[in-house]
Amino acid sequence: MCGIVAGVTERNIVPILLEGLKRLEYRGYDSAGVAVVDDSGLNRCRATGKVASLVDKVRQQQLQGRVGIAHTRWATHGAPSEKNAHPHTSSNQIAVVHNGIIENYLDIRQQLQKAGYEFSSDTDSEAVAHLIHQAFLHNGGDLRLAVQSAVSQLNGAFALAVFAVDCPDRIIATRHGSPMVVGLGIGEYFVASDSFALLPVTRRFVYLQEDDTVEITGDGWQIYDAQQQPVERECVENEQSADLIGKGRYKHFMQKEMFEQPEVVAQTLQGRIHHGMLQTQAFAPEFLKALAKVQQIDIIACGTSYHAGLVIKSHLERAGIRTNVEYASEYLYREVAVMPKTLFVSISQSGETADTLAALEKAKKLDYFDYLAVCNVPDSALVRASSHVLLTRAGREIGVASTKAFVTQLVALHILCLFIQQAQDKTINPALVQAFERLPSFCERMLALDERIAEVAKSLRDKSACLFLGRGEGFAIAAEGALKLKELSYIQAQAYPSGELKHGPLALVDDSMPVIALITHDHLAEKMMSNLQEVQARGGKIILFADSRVDKRALNAQTQLIDLGELEEMTASIAAVIPLQLFAYHVALLKGTDVDQPRNLAKSVTVE
Ligand code: G6P
Repeated sequence: MCGIVAGVTERNIVPILLEGLKRLEYRGYDSAGVAVVDDSGLNRCRATGKVASLVDKVRQQQLQGRVGIAHTRWATHGAPSEKNAHPHTSSNQIAVVHNGIIENYLDIRQQLQKAGYEFSSDTDSEAVAHLIHQAFLHNGGDLRLAVQSAVSQLNGAFALAVFAVDCPDRIIATRHGSPMVVGLGIGEYFVASDSFALLPVTRRFVYLQEDDTVEITGDGWQIYDAQQQPVERECVENEQSADLIGKGRYKHFMQKEMFEQPEVVAQTLQGRIHHGMLQTQAFAPEFLKALAKVQQIDIIACGTSYHAGLVIKSHLERAGIRTNVEYASEYLYREVAVMPKTLFVSISQSGETADTLAALEKAKKLDYFDYLAVCNVPDSALVRASSHVLLTRAGREIGVASTKAFVTQLVALHILCLFIQQAQDKTINPALVQAFERLPSFCERMLALDERIAEVAKSLRDKSACLFLGRGEGFAIAAEGALKLKELSYIQAQAYPSGELKHGPLALVDDSMPVIALITHDHLAEKMMSNLQEVQARGGKIILFADSRVDKRALNAQTQLIDLGELEEMTASIAAVIPLQLFAYHVALLKGTDVDQPRNLAKSVTVE
């Protein structure tokens, strides 16, 4: 989704800004732009499509400068087009890049139009540029005060970076509900919405807190809090590698990430489960003390992370912990009754999903017992805002459609479940713990099905809709399989608990409707099989992902089977998602869609 890079340097800043934008590409965007300011005034270059198109245009324009702002845009208000791309300017004096959404922009726009401002884009962001310009004129040319005055009139979520031609040596940046970090170089200072954009130029970062404003010049930087008082914030060293991750021998990042799953599962287990034993030293004593008291859990997440919550619900309930799993966007706007000793658990790959962050903020005002983030990014806003963290250790995930992050979320959540049981002195069958140590090899076995899955995927090449069925945890995994197929191939894929089939979806089933089913070897297998016979009786074509021990005699010859071998009960659903990921990937290859950056989607959704 939208990304910001900006800074004040002693050298030409344009290559640094363009490199920063390239590093933000994985987040998903549809246009990009850069603006610099020097004694000759404001110069801007914008382009639709990939950052590479912007790089070509910048070269032709010979854009140069020491102070600049840059942006990748993911369209919210107004189509993806050059006129809607950032930076937006006002009176050739102010330039602004904006992440987020200004909810009251129509009122502001009307008021500015009355004051004589002309708009050249359809965006909410352009209103911010004009508003800052208006404030800049009124307060005698203090850019920081102008930004603070403009921001006080905005509703919504935003991160902004701004410069003015009349004070061409500085950048002002601020945040409200959207992340922003200050990067400290040597004699040069930057801001960005994601520290990864700045790793080639610095390792030292200061995270802006809610409603902070920062002023950066070539001489230094100063942060002001919401009351506009100078304030000190902690500086942290980032230890991530600055290298842009390559695809290695794989065609796509998604393919690479799927094949990394055995390794990242092992990483997630490391130090937490060893020789069939839970390693208590893996967690802080106060976290374990908290787990001993937990009676209920509210899980909040979005997208794939929400599905991870659905999978773990039944395990937590089996352990006696009442569990509620909810989309963050729904949780945000309803009355919430919090029961005593309820732990709030947010699940997020990125740790910067706007809805999940806002849900945590809401939860903190309620009577929760404690706050845990299950997250993949150690320095993310979600981790910083939570009292406890369980890192998923999937490594950086570039493909927009989440794969390895999901599998590691499941492993981490199972670990959480086991630790709660242990902390509450409940009996744990050692065989269950040991099963996790064998999971990496089960993941490898699933990946070995790649060729067979590619073959079966051909039957979806010309389809526009299909159903996914599962039961229990299998339903949650089917829902994730359907989401992967939708995201990657743009086929309408709907998941149902198979018991619900006869309450509506069966009306869709005929000989042109593929029905994709997942059956693991458990107490629900026979029920699943009965539901598949209902599909078969109406001519539906079944693609079945099943454990080899499942009795398949009732299925007709048209059924295409992907034999998962013998999975272990405790980890079956974790392993079984991998064939569904591969299936979606191969259908997307056949359809020729953009696997790593599907249309209209973003890796980190930083707007509501
Ligand atoms: C976006 C991504 C999904 C992801 C969801 C939640 O929609 O494309 O892959 O599942 O956001 O993201 P999070 O980072 O909070 O897990």
